Amino acid sequence: MNMSNNQDLMQVLGDPTIFNINRLPAHSSHRYYSTAEEAHAQGDMPWRKCLNGEWDFHHATNIEGRPIGFEMPGFKMPDKINVPGHIQLQGYGVPQYVNVQYPWDGHEQLEPPQIPTKFNPTASYVREFELPANWQDMPTFLCFNGVESAFNVWVNGKYVGYSEDTFTPSHFDISPFVNKTGVNRLAVQVYRFSTASWLEDQDFWRFSGIFRDVYLATIPKAHVQDMFVKTPLSENYTKAQVTVDLKLTSAADIEARLLDHNGNAVAQTSGSTKLTLDVVNPQLWSAEKPYLYTLEILIKQNGQIIEAICEPVGIREFKLENKVMKINGKRIVFRGVNRHEFSAERGRSITREDMEWDIQFMKAHNINAVRTSHYPNDIYLYELCDKYGLYVIDETNLETHGTFGYGGEVSPILVPCSKPEWTDAVLDRTKSVFERDKNHPSIIIWSCGNEAGGGENIFKMSEFFRQNDDTRIVQYEPIVHDKRFPDTTDVESHMYTRVEGIRKYLENDPQKPFMLCEYSHAMGNSCGGLDRYVALEDEFEMYQGAFIWDFIDQHLWHKDDCGNPYLAYGGDFGDRPADYIFCGNGIVTADRKPSTKALAVKGAYQPYVIDVSADGNVKIRSKHLFTDLNEYTVKWTVEKGEVVTESGELTLDLAPLETLEYKLPAELESDGKELVITVTVCSADNQVAFGQCVVDAVPAKAASAVPFTIADGLSNVGISGDGYEILFNKHGGIASLNYNGVEYIKSHLHTLMPSFWRAPIDNDKGSRVPFEMSQWKIASLYNACEKCEFEAQENGLKVTAVFKFPTTPEAKVTVTYFAHANGVIDVAMDYAATPGLPYMLKFGMDLAIPMEFDNLTWRGLGPDESYPDRDFGLPYGTYTNKVADNVPGYLKPQECGNHVGVRYAKVTNNQGAGLCIRMSERPLNFSALPYTPHELENATHAYELPPVHKTMLSINSEMMGVGGDDSWGARPEQMYMLPADRDYSLKFSIQQA
Ligand code: GAL
Ligand code: MG
Repeated sequence: MNMSNNQDLMQVLGDPTIFNINRLPAHSSHRYYSTAEEAHAQGDMPWRKCLNGEWDFHHATNIEGRPIGFEMPGFKMPDKINVPGHIQLQGYGVPQYVNVQYPWDGHEQLEPPQIPTKFNPTASYVREFELPANWQDMPTFLCFNGVESAFNVWVNGKYVGYSEDTFTPSHFDISPFVNKTGVNRLAVQVYRFSTASWLEDQDFWRFSGIFRDVYLATIPKAHVQDMFVKTPLSENYTKAQVTVDLKLTSAADIEARLLDHNGNAVAQTSGSTKLTLDVVNPQLWSAEKPYLYTLEILIKQNGQIIEAICEPVGIREFKLENKVMKINGKRIVFRGVNRHEFSAERGRSITREDMEWDIQFMKAHNINAVRTSHYPNDIYLYELCDKYGLYVIDETNLETHGTFGYGGEVSPILVPCSKPEWTDAVLDRTKSVFERDKNHPSIIIWSCGNEAGGGENIFKMSEFFRQNDDTRIVQYEPIVHDKRFPDTTDVESHMYTRVEGIRKYLENDPQKPFMLCEYSHAMGNSCGGLDRYVALEDEFEMYQGAFIWDFIDQHLWHKDDCGNPYLAYGGDFGDRPADYIFCGNGIVTADRKPSTKALAVKGAYQPYVIDVSADGNVKIRSKHLFTDLNEYTVKWTVEKGEVVTESGELTLDLAPLETLEYKLPAELESDGKELVITVTVCSADNQVAFGQCVVDAVPAKAASAVPFTIADGLSNVGISGDGYEILFNKHGGIASLNYNGVEYIKSHLHTLMPSFWRAPIDNDKGSRVPFEMSQWKIASLYNACEKCEFEAQENGLKVTAVFKFPTTPEAKVTVTYFAHANGVIDVAMDYAATPGLPYMLKFGMDLAIPMEFDNLTWRGLGPDESYPDRDFGLPYGTYTNKVADNVPGYLKPQECGNHVGVRYAKVTNNQGAGLCIRMSERPLNFSALPYTPHELENATHAYELPPVHKTMLSINSEMMGVGGDDSWGARPEQMYMLPADRDYSLKFSIQQA
């Protein structure tokens, strides 16, 4: 094969049976050093030389445009590029976001294993290197940790080899080609598409290039090429054996010690390639208590240390027992999340700081498990999971979603299916991830991939894992749909199955434990009803938890047409075809800020369930498996009438999985004032759980009579008194609302009016809410006042207006205002059941006030937005922010900023003047935003929102849930839907803040 010849190259790229040329066998990713001291310090390896940095570069649209002979010394390259990084984020072509469809869909008509010829960006990289002086007598290896999607390598003009599989390392022996002294020319050519692209149809941005570390490596004369550490436990977890299986490049004497946290050796042994260290009363590894021993291995020849390794070892047992997954003998429950490697700046070429941030964020949000959707991650990620404690599903780099077709039957073009030409390629991927990652205690499940159908090839992948590893199990979701090889998966793993479906499986003689590898699709305003899934943990032993889709929004920094930076989604780069906003499903934004969903997740996943009752009784139930409550501080406060009257801190003993009851030593009589009791469980730096009890205040008596005047005019009826004047027009609207000389009605077009519409959220769109319920949008824009009556009463003015709406059948509401003598207005809106109309999106009234009133204080759930079906994780209290802060970074503007449980909300200007909206009988759903729902709805991006000129108050008795079981059809639970064939009643008051 001559890789400079286009035909030869096409043959390599286009043949699924060729996925590497001269690549070395995969092996464990352990670090190795020349002395024990270096090994213990775990610093940069002197036996590696990093090749990251600026390389010379040439970019071509397809292989025909590549520079022939570029690998030869002396060839001048026109451009520069940074390694690692995607070429598309450095000005060469554009990134493309597609989900199911392949990136060439509609451009080139292809069937597996054909690859694009017109558009196959070809990136040629060159850099020079010199070998360290002390490597002269040693071999030289060249290692790539991640290159998308296929590449050839030359050194000093000589061909080295070829590799596929974007997400696992490729090692080559370049010893025969290097100059031991002087300059070497390394040339790499990366092809965006190869047959590997058929296997890499993950729902993500499509990039190419060298996006993970590249380095040279050498090895000493006796080297551990591969190691496999296992930790079988016996005698009720009081005895462990740490077994080590080594592959050496040449015979050596091995000495091994297992050191605890304090550096004390708890076991030691010596031998050749198989070692066993016995540990009595071992500290076990779990996500709760990620205890890591250090396995020190010294490789000696003639008594001299040739190589030293210090490998972190977690002693743990993970297995299926009576159809239940268990960690160290206890039933495991995953409170998990799927994670793509992503950053708004660098795409999938993320930094160690990004990874560390992610893992710390997960730990701080009660997340205990992560699925590396849908490919092996950077090696460092697993080190962090071992260290911080997260259970990992490590997924093979395989997804062929676009070959399913839509519909039930197995598509004829499905790959890898049982097709022999794909067998070796997918087994190679399996071996690569397994060999690299097998020593991480955090990994407890191997995954064969995502959405790649069923068939014999995938079954073989699963068998590879089983035959090589008895310390983990295998999961593969598509077996739910393609049942040809049911034994492919050891666990019944579903995605997006709704609660009823899960129940159905678990109530009908289940043969495998159940988990959701994906659920709660966190796209835009979502994650409603997450708590219903968590509740299943307590109901079914074989329900073993679930993984949210997903961790981080995949949005990239870009510039709008005016040159301003913003976070872009699919299609924004002119990438076509594109799947647009579907890349944004994270509980964290792409620039790594917690989204509005993060606290809800933290709340749903909290390890203690805390019930507080008004008499001060506190019940705490532990969901921890290995941690006593006495490792935390329990804190409590009592508030009466919004003032903290008592508080305290406790240390309580509570064994894992047990429940305790405790009576707070507090005075709880509140004399009719609001009473709030809050109990939290805190670690040194994090509140991990809370529980609350709120008892509302007894409503105050009406104020005593004060003088007022009523003026009944031609078009308006006004009422005025001390410090206020209110005019009602004769069409049922408030024409003027004036407190102390300040006018609050911003515009006659946006006075207080009935509203049933919210800007559709992504989940609404997916479930056809706008299409089916659009009558309520029209009703919220246009109404007619059928009747408006005024009645002067002894203590104020009563206005009764009936509004009708252009719906079929016709809907009506009655709005009643009672303007009290003291200027307070009671408002009621009543609706009588009207069969035949679609569901409403909300039931309330909207009002625009001038934009200077942009400070919001509310008493309700906070600090983030909340919805009736996402009201967990947010404590009740008093919160203040700016009105603009209530618009979170949803990429497509949508309904946002709602607060549930609102007793009152104040919107004030910087002088403190403003309005206060108070609940009357039931807490409100309230928001204050700079935009109308229609303005939010009309904007495709936040930069299309209009300049701010108002504060929109949205005052509702009901708000539809946000749902999120999925974003392509699932509606919120019925109890969070607003059927039109029942009565609704909204009651609140308006007064001066
Ligand atoms: C799942 C898939 C994920 C993602 C999600 C939708 O079916 O496994 O990769 O595409 O749907 O956001
Ligand atoms: Mg997919």
